[in-house]
Amino acid sequence: MGEIIVTNATESKFINRDVAHLIHPLHSPSAHASAKVWVTGDGAFIEDADGNRFIDCLSGLWNNTAGNGRTELADAASQQMRQMGFASGYAGSSNPRAIELSERLAEITYPNINHFYLTSGGGESTDSNIKLARYYWKLKGKPDKTKVISRIWGYHGVTLAAMCATGISSYWPMFEPRIPGFFHIPGPYPYLYETPDDAPSQGIAAANELEKKILEEGADTVAMFIAEPVQGAGGVIVPQDDYFKRIREICDAYDVLLVSDEVITGFGRTGRMFGLEHWDVQPDLIQFAKAITSGYFPLGGIGISDEIAQVMNDSGSPWMHAYTYSSHPVGCAVALAMLDIIEKEDFVAQAQTKGKRMLVKLKEALGDHPHVGEVRGLGMMCGVELVKDKASKQMFDAKDGIGAKVHVETVKRGMFSRVRGDVYCVAPPIVTGENTIDDIADILGASVRAVLG
Ligand SMILES: Cc1ncc(COP(=O)(O)O)c(C=O)c1O
Repeated sequence: MGEIIVTNATESKFINRDVAHLIHPLHSPSAHASAKVWVTGDGAFIEDADGNRFIDCLSGLWNNTAGNGRTELADAASQQMRQMGFASGYAGSSNPRAIELSERLAEITYPNINHFYLTSGGGESTDSNIKLARYYWKLKGKPDKTKVISRIWGYHGVTLAAMCATGISSYWPMFEPRIPGFFHIPGPYPYLYETPDDAPSQGIAAANELEKKILEEGADTVAMFIAEPVQGAGGVIVPQDDYFKRIREICDAYDVLLVSDEVITGFGRTGRMFGLEHWDVQPDLIQFAKAITSGYFPLGGIGISDEIAQVMNDSGSPWMHAYTYSSHPVGCAVALAMLDIIEKEDFVAQAQTKGKRMLVKLKEALGDHPHVGEVRGLGMMCGVELVKDKASKQMFDAKDGIGAKVHVETVKRGMFSRVRGDVYCVAPPIVTGENTIDDIADILGASVRAVLG
């Protein structure tokens, strides 16, 4: 790691300057009172301004799969910045790094996805897919197919359209009215989804919620269904094995585009390069961000099926959608260096093996605790759901703030992540060492016991 310059000795001095001028994502003065000021990192560890070291148990924000201190990524950015810091990516312009990146993405994404539009992150990618789905159906002569269906606890970002697709309702009230035409169905949530007696399985029943909603709204009005292969920010919800196959059938039956939001699950996190590979399902559109640069540069994008790309190309008119930073040469250079790391270090295999260990260790440390309702996960993303009563699955009262208290205890013990209510999310970098994975389980076990006995 290079030398890090810390301009003020203590964290509290930073915080005073921070609150004077900075507004943060999810801005909250009370939550910020005990904020950390992160100054350095190596591998799966990050250090605050006072020199305290923490396990980065959420890989930053699920993105930093390669960990901090990767000189290959820094060198790729530096080299590209020296050569050409920026050039337009608008139609009529391109650059070699963006071209190379699209070729590499075509090799590693689903076989039918071979065309890519690049953005600066996840929310922009959600908006791009919504706009593309609407445009596609207009070109196909079905202009009324504009509605978007997504799932409760789904997270797709917070730009206005993405926020409307996001199914975590606390994101909505401040910004109502939402855009009309967005609908949420219950997600598969194996721990909590109540299967009707006559359903063939829980997964099929949960998938059939989509069919029910399409029929309610009218198939001629529904453009797309967007879903994360494993719901991340909503509490690491792994679907049943038969869920997405049935979703694909329903989308095909009603001409609804299936959009796979791979912003967290893309590039190896779940133990496959992309999430729906687990169930052998191909989407029509994908979106990605985060781990494509391990968070070192804000880059995202959408992947478009051959069929949809053909319709766009044949339309004869330009797609009136554009971001200044689409195809950013520096972002693309960092992404290319990251794809080298993912391949050379076999992130897919690492996430499989380490993910299995992580789930086993978390279950050993927490599975028997009377307030741990479920320990779940796939690859290097796990969730520990705390409940008031294990037998009845009764939740704690939100005002008890149990998840937040557990977070405080983990921080005392040198670990940093995020909670969704009373679900503690565990998604450290894929490069995390096995001993550190064991430490994560021990620290979380001790923290849960400190709060709940
Ligand atoms: C699945 C998913 N989609 C979209 C987003 C939004 O990405 P961004 O914060 O880069 O806009 C996120 C962010 O966590 C995400 O997890």
